[in-house]
Amino acid sequence: MKKIAKWESPSNIALIKYWGKHGGQLPNNPSISFTLTNSKTITSVELVSKTDKNIEFLFNNDISESFSTRIENFLNSISSELPFINDYSFIIKSKNTFPHSAGIASSASAFSALALCLIDLKQQLGFKITDFFSEASYFARLGSGSACRSVYGGVALWGETDLIENSSNKFAVSLNDIIHPIFKNYHDDIIIVNSEKKHISSSLGHKLMDTNPYRNIKYKQSKINLNELLLSLKSGNLTDFIRITESEALSLHSMMMLSNPSFILLQPKTLQIISEIIRFRNHTKIPISFTLDAGPNVHVLYPHKFTDEVKEFLSDNFNHNCQIINDFTS
Ligand code: DP6
Repeated sequence: MKKIAKWESPSNIALIKYWGKHGGQLPNNPSISFTLTNSKTITSVELVSKTDKNIEFLFNNDISESFSTRIENFLNSISSELPFINDYSFIIKSKNTFPHSAGIASSASAFSALALCLIDLKQQLGFKITDFFSEASYFARLGSGSACRSVYGGVALWGETDLIENSSNKFAVSLNDIIHPIFKNYHDDIIIVNSEKKHISSSLGHKLMDTNPYRNIKYKQSKINLNELLLSLKSGNLTDFIRITESEALSLHSMMMLSNPSFILLQPKTLQIISEIIRFRNHTKIPISFTLDAGPNVHVLYPHKFTDEVKEFLSDNFNHNCQIINDFTS
């Protein structure tokens, strides 16, 4: 019988950032993210009889050699743990619901969707699965660290902390059971400042943390931030949520500026948008805030009930010169 698996998985935005890793893609500090809803990758993986060509990878129906090599390396790297990989050739078809050039991290959704397909195929082939999503998260992590948080909807934590039972550096866990309802459907409108490919990859950014003289202080602070963020996610205290998440975003970019060599991904427009968001919040008392990925685009976060007010604010100020992607965590 034909063995094929098809999964879709969204991108995610970190609130406590993963920045720096060691060993086999293990994080230097635990991180927490909102999984998005609309910005996702849809992937199918078909197992076919083994030929010389191990993998055929089609992105938007076109052959993509560069991503194909990354996936082939990934499959080789996990084949000792998933030995069925050696018995077949793979036809993988993938597409994103968001524009490739939108500046949204696509490796998180891509590796999450791929890992979900692999665990699905493992199950179809009759191998024992102990916990489907933890196993998918484990393999997604080996493709791209942040991908392990995307297999769950809502809020996810990756990395060991005494505060969450079963937390692990090897896979993410869902926090949905402990999250205050205000964070249900929490919005993330992404203002695209620049859609070009980053000139510094995340991998190099992580590596530069190894020699960053401020790393220990940064990890100590992120641990405190994580503890406090968990409390605010449970209680629904948005003042703390905003203070902690904005500080995390700025400290991520501070680390880039303090690396050796240093680099800057923020652009003048990023800072201008951040200032406007803070001004709007102070003026209206609407609990809108920002966070940043490893790039210049601004993620605008706010509770669902303020959708109309924020929509008007964004369209008055940014719609005419920036693309905005509307998303939310489920
Ligand atoms: C700033 O997961 O893209 O988005 O593990 O090398 O693939 P690799 O890195 P990646 O790094 C994400 C960094 C970040 C913060 C985060 O998502 O936690």
